[in-house]
Amino acid sequence: MLSSSIGIALLLSAISVSAQVNLLTDINQISRSWGQVSVYADNEEDYFGVEYVGLPDGCQIESASTLQRHAQRFPTSYIDDGVNDQQFADKLSNFTKAASGNSSVGLFTGPLSFLNGYQYIMQDTGLLTGIGAITEFQSGVSFWNRYGRTLFNASLAQLAYNSTIDNGTARPPVVIRTTSQSRIQNTQISWSLGFFGPSFRTIASPTLANWTAPFERVVIPEGGTENNTLASYDSCFNDYSALGYMGDDDIFTYLPKYLGAATKRMQKYAPSGFSFNYNDTYAMQSICAYEYNYIGMSDFCFLFTADEWAGFENTLDMEYYYDYSYGNPTGRAQGIGYLQELIARLEHVYITSSNSSVNSTIDNNAATFPLGQPFYADFSHDDIIISVLTAMSMDYFKDPPSLSQYPPNPNRHFNLANLTPFGARLITETIGCSVPDPAPVKDFRTQYTPTQYGYDADNATYKFIRMRLNNGVLPLNTIRGGGCGTANDGRVDGMCELSAFIASQATAYELSNYDFACFGNYTIANLTSGQDYDGAATMASY
Ligand SMILES: *[C@@H]1O[C@H](CO)[C@@H](O)[C@H](O)[C@H]1NC(C)=O
Ligand SMILES: *[C@@H]1O[C@H](CO)[C@@H](O)[C@H](O)[C@H]1NC(C)=O
Ligand SMILES: *[C@@H]1O[C@H](CO)[C@@H](O)[C@H](O)[C@H]1NC(C)=O
Ligand SMILES: *[C@@H]1O[C@H](CO)[C@@H](O)[C@H](O)[C@H]1NC(C)=O
Ligand SMILES: *[C@@H]1O[C@H](CO)[C@@H](O)[C@H](O)[C@H]1NC(C)=O
Ligand SMILES: *[C@@H]1O[C@H](CO)[C@@H](O)[C@H](O)[C@H]1NC(C)=O
Ligand SMILES: *[C@@H]1O[C@H](CO)[C@@H](O)[C@H](O)[C@H]1NC(C)=O
Ligand SMILES: *[C@@H]1O[C@H](CO)[C@@H](O)[C@H](O)[C@H]1NC(C)=O
Ligand SMILES: *[C@@H]1O[C@H](CO)[C@@H](O)[C@H](O)[C@H]1NC(C)=O
Ligand SMILES: *[C@@H]1O[C@H](CO)[C@@H](O)[C@H](O)[C@H]1NC(C)=O
Ligand SMILES: *[C@@H]1O[C@H](CO)[C@@H](O)[C@H](O)[C@H]1NC(C)=O
Ligand SMILES: *[C@@H]1O[C@H](CO)[C@@H](O)[C@H](O)[C@H]1NC(C)=O
Repeated sequence: MLSSSIGIALLLSAISVSAQVNLLTDINQISRSWGQVSVYADNEEDYFGVEYVGLPDGCQIESASTLQRHAQRFPTSYIDDGVNDQQFADKLSNFTKAASGNSSVGLFTGPLSFLNGYQYIMQDTGLLTGIGAITEFQSGVSFWNRYGRTLFNASLAQLAYNSTIDNGTARPPVVIRTTSQSRIQNTQISWSLGFFGPSFRTIASPTLANWTAPFERVVIPEGGTENNTLASYDSCFNDYSALGYMGDDDIFTYLPKYLGAATKRMQKYAPSGFSFNYNDTYAMQSICAYEYNYIGMSDFCFLFTADEWAGFENTLDMEYYYDYSYGNPTGRAQGIGYLQELIARLEHVYITSSNSSVNSTIDNNAATFPLGQPFYADFSHDDIIISVLTAMSMDYFKDPPSLSQYPPNPNRHFNLANLTPFGARLITETIGCSVPDPAPVKDFRTQYTPTQYGYDADNATYKFIRMRLNNGVLPLNTIRGGGCGTANDGRVDGMCELSAFIASQATAYELSNYDFACFGNYTIANLTSGQDYDGAATMASY
């Protein structure tokens, strides 16, 4: 008797332990598992495995190019994005409307009580939000602090870029580029407010008069069939077909693999007559992310476990890998245009004819494609960053997200929250050094002045490239072909000698197979097979 009641008590406690779920409540952690809609955070400098992150003695950054992604926005009208969210919101509001005043319909209870009076507050406009503008402002300030100060030899306590130099001469306006899309232009505007600093001058300028004088914008149309390296899908027509959505298709087969328990859990708090399906539970995760990115709060955020958030992240990783990276036959083609522009700037040459998304009318002259600027800023999208890394054959990222594993491998390299959160930035630094083989420096060190560690422009004749993605130094030694070293030889600090870097990209265009990938007639029998296309189409059927 006694022993059997102990047995029952043990059994009951075992049941309640197993039923107990550990919901994640740390929003800083939650908001870093939202793939491309994650909140921005700098990666640790050694995040991508490059352990020596200091700038060597005798070296200094001589120019920097940023490919800057827009920040927090409203949902877009893709099925796995705003459309599925809206469907859930409609289903809910249809239900609550019909139930209102009907005492025989029950209520949502417990953590879902808020749904009884809930109204969906967003539209699928894709517009930059106020919080997004803050992220970009901060990014502009950060670019001044990290790069502008040393590039322009800031004077004591200088807060932002100054287009007038000490002898009173004006610098030529910096040319920056953006696509025409509202959120990208607004990204450029807020970033520029941070970098150029008109709202934190010694003498306040309440009207921000002439604040745009230090720069000129090149606004490249987006949304048609034009050539635009910053929205390159527009000129890659095959991307308009089903193959542009290969990654999206993968998502819906993954939902049942990770949302079973969560969907059951939600159902416990639902009135009879309302039945949660996987799409609904997925929408709840997505709505959490979008509400947080819009108003900085959401009652949908604290309903899931860490593993369920990792599952959510994985759906977005697979989407981008199979839409824009090695998993898509147009992955390289979509990144090659910006890569060609990057190389052209490094070689100080215009692009006079185009074989890609480059518009050679824009890139063949100094007014719209100046060479030799201390910095370049191009405002664009997440997928372009992903495709550029693919076009470069930065094979560190050739690590396909599993279409079935749950929880996903926590050490996977293709983790979008670290690659393209809102406000992501891919920065290419050109570094001048006084010796051909400067000794690597392990720890980061602040460059208080350009010359602090012995840099002298006059003898800094040895040039190097280093790249950063959201502050993490990228492993250029993983570029295919070994031109920038390999795991076993070459530099350990992510620096690659300039001409070696350029040579490492010599076959990038050929590998993209641009014309066939974008315009060729090829068919893909199974869009969700997880096949490795190495980012390009090369034959008629798969
Ligand atoms: C909500 O109700 C409207 C009007 O009856 C209907 O057209 C729509 O399909 C419903 N939506 C959902 C998701 O149930
Ligand atoms: C109230 O809800 C019940 C249960 O769903 C339903 O059978 C009934 O028709 C509803 N009454 C009205 C007036 O809509
Ligand atoms: C930077 O400016 C200071 C004066 O503020 C000047 O002394 C120094 O030589 C300049 N350094 C470089 C590298 O131009
Ligand atoms: C920019 O530099 C010039 C020349 O040193 C100086 O006169 C001016 O006050 C500076 N402008 C700002 C906004 O600091
Ligand atoms: C001011 O300095 C710049 C850069 O050193 C130089 O090119 C320019 O000629 C100078 N202007 C005057 C008026 O001294
Ligand atoms: C703005 O620029 C105009 C034209 O160059 C000039 O007349 C005006 O004084 C400037 N205003 C301010 C506040 O600098
Ligand atoms: C290239 O840019 C020029 C100048 O902006 C524009 O007139 C032309 O339509 C563009 N061509 C394509 C193919 O995008
Ligand atoms: C979930 O959404 C996908 C994509 O639209 C659709 O194919 C599927 O039928 C939906 N599932 C449910 C249960 O509504
Ligand atoms: C636009 O791209 C196409 C395809 O690569 C190319 O043939 C054409 O010359 C480009 N147009 C311009 C103006 O650069
Ligand atoms: C380069 O110039 C700096 C500053 O004048 C000097 O300290 C350094 O020794 C020089 N390096 C070489 C390799 O000559
Ligand atoms: C594309 O290829 C398929 C299969 O070979 C063929 O049936 C079709 O007519 C081709 N389409 C075009 C536009 O050439
Ligand atoms: C496509 O490939 C996936 C992964 O191998 C497989 O699960 C699925 O059944 C295939 N679909 C078709 C229609 O063959």
